[in-house]
Amino acid sequence: MTRQLFVTTALPYANGKFHIGHIMEYIQADIWVRFQRMRGNQVHFVGADDAHGAPIMIAAEKAGITPQQFVANIAAGRKEYLDGFHISFDNWHSTDGAENHVLAQNIYLALRDAGLIEVRAIEQFFDPDKGMFLPDRFIKGECPKCGAKDQYGDSCESCGAVYAPTELKSPYSALSGATPVLKTSDHYFFKLSDARCFEFLQSWTQESGRLQPEVVNKIKEWFTKDEEGNGGLGDWDISRDAPYFGIEIPDAPGKYFYVWLDAPIGYLASLKNWFDKGGPAAKYGETRSFDEFIADPAVEQYHFIGKDITYFHTLFWPAMLQFSGRKTPTNVFVHGFMTVNNGEKMSKSRGTGLDPLKYLSLGMNPEWLRYYIAAKLNSHVEDVDFNRDDFTARVNADLIGKYVNIASRAAGFIAKRFGGRLSADVGVEGRVLLDTLRAHRDTVTGLYEAREFGKVLREIMALADRVNEYVDQNKPWEIAKQAGQDAVLQDVCTVCIEAFRLLTIYLKPVLPALAAQVEAFLQVEPLDFHATERALGAHAIGSYQHLMQRVDPKLLEELFAAPEPEKLIPGGEELAPEIKIDDFTKVDLRIARIVKAETVDGSTKLLRLTLDVGEGRTRNVFSGIASAYKPEDLAGKLTVMVANLAPRKMKFGISEGMVLAASHADEKANPGVFVLEPFPGAQPGMRVR
Ligand code: MSP
Ligand code: ZN
Repeated sequence: MTRQLFVTTALPYANGKFHIGHIMEYIQADIWVRFQRMRGNQVHFVGADDAHGAPIMIAAEKAGITPQQFVANIAAGRKEYLDGFHISFDNWHSTDGAENHVLAQNIYLALRDAGLIEVRAIEQFFDPDKGMFLPDRFIKGECPKCGAKDQYGDSCESCGAVYAPTELKSPYSALSGATPVLKTSDHYFFKLSDARCFEFLQSWTQESGRLQPEVVNKIKEWFTKDEEGNGGLGDWDISRDAPYFGIEIPDAPGKYFYVWLDAPIGYLASLKNWFDKGGPAAKYGETRSFDEFIADPAVEQYHFIGKDITYFHTLFWPAMLQFSGRKTPTNVFVHGFMTVNNGEKMSKSRGTGLDPLKYLSLGMNPEWLRYYIAAKLNSHVEDVDFNRDDFTARVNADLIGKYVNIASRAAGFIAKRFGGRLSADVGVEGRVLLDTLRAHRDTVTGLYEAREFGKVLREIMALADRVNEYVDQNKPWEIAKQAGQDAVLQDVCTVCIEAFRLLTIYLKPVLPALAAQVEAFLQVEPLDFHATERALGAHAIGSYQHLMQRVDPKLLEELFAAPEPEKLIPGGEELAPEIKIDDFTKVDLRIARIVKAETVDGSTKLLRLTLDVGEGRTRNVFSGIASAYKPEDLAGKLTVMVANLAPRKMKFGISEGMVLAASHADEKANPGVFVLEPFPGAQPGMRVR
């Protein structure tokens, strides 16, 4: 029976480019999806950008653009990665799409009707300068446990302690540097502690054969209260106050859904968008509407996710669906994390991560990576390490040495000696070998279905070993030298080509582009799993082109080389002659507070600044920044000034120092002046050294 599957990967935050962890998830899901399609099943494989939330709003503000523009810029970069690694999404959308606004509001209203929404006043840190409640990550201060400075509001990177932001000592807003104040506000909660939710989730998560065993164990911990009665399923805070980039909560002015409420609904929104575009109708002759399709019990729904977001997908998400009267997911497939070169933390700045675009731009074959990642994946929640020597060995020794070579060992003889034609029938030994390969089809498909990709590749490579043994025993290169042995040579080479075709079928979910090349070379229709039942027979094949290069270890060196240092003259301005540290220390730079900023009568260039450098008096400084700043932009801000510059008498008065600002050398052609501002925490009078 044709199965109908709705498959998703986690929706990546739209505040950054894809990293290797994302690509790993897409490769895992894509292999499974391609496998399902090859079996003749109907698959709707969709993704989307996770557009909402405070970090994206703040990043957009910093970039001086709207969050919508910000997210659109990120979205525009996605295709390069997805096409580059042959990820076959049917649709890519955004959680800020119109569909998601409607779906999220409807789901919320249904939960409210079910009596599962509650409003409660809570106290939270508020940034009085920015006029907004601060997410935990935007509150910093001293760790309450170890006293480490500049720690985030939720946990300490120094000692690992976890705490509430209100426990931080000397807290400050990472956005403005201001001291946050506690403020009360109404928040909307999804009552997960309700007995209905508890009972439903117990049975949903523990239904046998659903979630992975280690996931079930983790969930059992989440259900359990400790001796003090903490833990267990708490109610979930699903609202955030304006300003927030998100979806408005109906009947609650100034309140938005917390990003994690509308994010998984984005799965449905992307699918709806795909239906509304007519994708399923064109592809499968689908006649149902999105609403009919998604409610149909025959439709299977699967979500591929990483282990860090298990809670959201195995508790919040099924509960949201269930109690809004919708169908719950068939399953959630959780994978571990990708690490690089022995678990080195992925870090862009140190250039140690595996940058997927750099990988592609070096001309490295995307299918090497697909093969390698597949070889390391299983159905469990285990981390996967990218190790460069292991990568080279597996691709060169297995993929190329064992599989690709089979074709290259036989194709030349078929072309040169037999005009490309295979023999109609083969001898007993060859037939036995090919039957063995065919007999493994159910094992192979069973392992793909179970997401045991490492096992399936080992199985396939063991079959390739048998084919190579056959070649080594029959030695076509020697038969070719013997007179009167043409029929034997054609028979042996035919067995090789047929075996290669069978192995290609088995590898196709992992190596779709290579399989397409093989289909062209063999001059056959696109291969699916039924194609194992046939034999090529007296078929003419095309000419063999080399199918895949080996990995050159030099490429890996380049891939992991630290990025080139930035050019020394970014703005085209020559560096000043070298100085010694003593030359630098002669310049006394200080943090200054701009107490007041005023326009200067008779000057369009200058602003008059009143600066506090912690001396118990203020200084008067004229600064040529009137083209770039209004006085009210500057008042109250911190900046950096040269404090020991000899006072200078100007037309408008005496200037007692100089404020630092960045600009291009050719200011006329390249306008723009940018006053320096220290990181939060700096105090007037501190020396800059
Ligand atoms: N936006 C949320 C997901 C919302 S789903 C409704 C999010 N985004 S994310 O960009 O941080 O992560 C997207 C996916 O990438 C998640 O499944 C996450 O687990 C996965 N990975 C992030 N880093 C990873 C690795 N280093 N390795 C493997 N997967 C990792 O979470
Ligand atoms: Zn600490």
